[in-house]
Amino acid sequence: MAREQWATRIGVILAVAGSAVGLGNFLRFPGQAAANGGGAFMIPYFISLLVLGIPLCWAEWTMGRYAGIRGFNSAPAVYAAIWKNPLAKYCGAFALLIPLVVYMYYVVIEAWCLGYAIDYLNGNLMQVKDADGFSSHFSDFVGAGENGALLTGSSPLVWLVIITFICNFVLIYRGITKGIEAFCRIAMPLMAILAILVLVRVLTLGTPDPAKPDQSVAGGLNFMWNPDFATLAKPETWLAASGQIFFSLSVGFGIVINYSSYLRKKDDVALSGLTSNSMNEFFEVCLGGLITLPAAFIFMGMAAGEQGTFDLGFKALPNVFALMPGGQFFGFLWFFMLFIAAITSSLSMLQPVIAFLEEGFGLKRHASAALLGLIAALGCGFVLYFSKGLGALDTFDFWVGTMLIFVLALIQTLIYGWVFGIHKGHAELHTGAHIRVPWFVQLIVKYVSPIYLLVIFIGVCATTGPGYVKTMTENPVVMGSVAFIGTVFAFLLLMIHIAGRRWDAQGKFENIQELHD
Ligand code: PFF
Repeated sequence: MAREQWATRIGVILAVAGSAVGLGNFLRFPGQAAANGGGAFMIPYFISLLVLGIPLCWAEWTMGRYAGIRGFNSAPAVYAAIWKNPLAKYCGAFALLIPLVVYMYYVVIEAWCLGYAIDYLNGNLMQVKDADGFSSHFSDFVGAGENGALLTGSSPLVWLVIITFICNFVLIYRGITKGIEAFCRIAMPLMAILAILVLVRVLTLGTPDPAKPDQSVAGGLNFMWNPDFATLAKPETWLAASGQIFFSLSVGFGIVINYSSYLRKKDDVALSGLTSNSMNEFFEVCLGGLITLPAAFIFMGMAAGEQGTFDLGFKALPNVFALMPGGQFFGFLWFFMLFIAAITSSLSMLQPVIAFLEEGFGLKRHASAALLGLIAALGCGFVLYFSKGLGALDTFDFWVGTMLIFVLALIQTLIYGWVFGIHKGHAELHTGAHIRVPWFVQLIVKYVSPIYLLVIFIGVCATTGPGYVKTMTENPVVMGSVAFIGTVFAFLLLMIHIAGRRWDAQGKFENIQELHD
């Protein structure tokens, strides 16, 4: 079978940026910043970007292309090609588990966005009055009141999830160039235009209520960006900032490694990696950071900062759209933009698993997509059923979308820094490169990133760990969700084991030819 490859350089950059830019930029980032000291949050945020995000991203791009041109695409095979140890391929289980489980809940939130966009289009959401109204609308819509509430047949959400699922699978079925690349080339500029339109609307709101002169655009920006330096002393702030960097850049998920494996030997990775990261930061800091929270502040005042991420996005913001001139139109633009942003991200969660099923078992695209669809649908059904208080969704997000990312990121820095080797890495990174990357970046990946990650990881375990274990044991849904994740993990390990035997029989790793110019 001919090797799949990106068609154009801008296409691969937009695809990686499409994976990165998503709900994390517009909903998670403003929520995290507000909860962790506003402007002061940006200090650990930018340090994490420089020490973890960008260096690790380069490491993933480099290893991915290195393995890709030697014929390996999925994380288990990529790790095994680099680290000649029988354990290596099993490390790849994390790089399949993370995108797969994140997909199971991310696609549900994606369907919320689609639902809200449709409800703006048909005017339904403009009928809802006051904060309580929006709160109960959201709670009913996502089934937060009772487990099983969504599966009674009358809930539109299940249908929206099915539509969203189909959109994702149609695109993934079409493959790297015709599906992912073609969609991201249209979606990314479209998202930028829609977000800029909403931004202009928010920044020209002035002071809508003359009786509350503080609640102005300037007040909103001040509220988002004014630093509360006292939060810098708290370890949680540093944890939140580095977690946000990973989630947002899609680094440490096993995605970049897979996407970059479809490059050619001489394709640049240094500038491409930096460009996609910069695009993500533009969407996050300039668009996400200037829209969501300032808008909420203008209409709600200080109460805006006390909202959780979903409260901010799905209760407070609709309330804001209800009050602003042209709110129905801008509400539609906003949620439609979120929906597209989420699709370009969820696509990227499917591709690593598809690649593994094809590489590990020789499946054709329709078989791999069908099998993955079945597994993903099971998980998604689980999230939809255990909807009370968003129990399953939150648990998946905590264990996989937060904790396991640190584990995989650590594994990847170790494989790159200590097995692949930073001298080889530096040389590989510069093959076909359009910029020069200073040598100290390699030293960061080898020494600084693993220590920084370990300190943060131990910090998370020490601060959130004990309280979390207590809630976990008290709540059967949380326990069940953890068991579900464990089962998927065990299943993936088994699949990797079977694939490994096939690879051994084929002698796949025996003569990894060193490609020379
Ligand atoms: N980076 C995406 C965002 O900011 O919304 C989220 C994401 C993408 C998470 C891809 C996980 C993933 F595998």
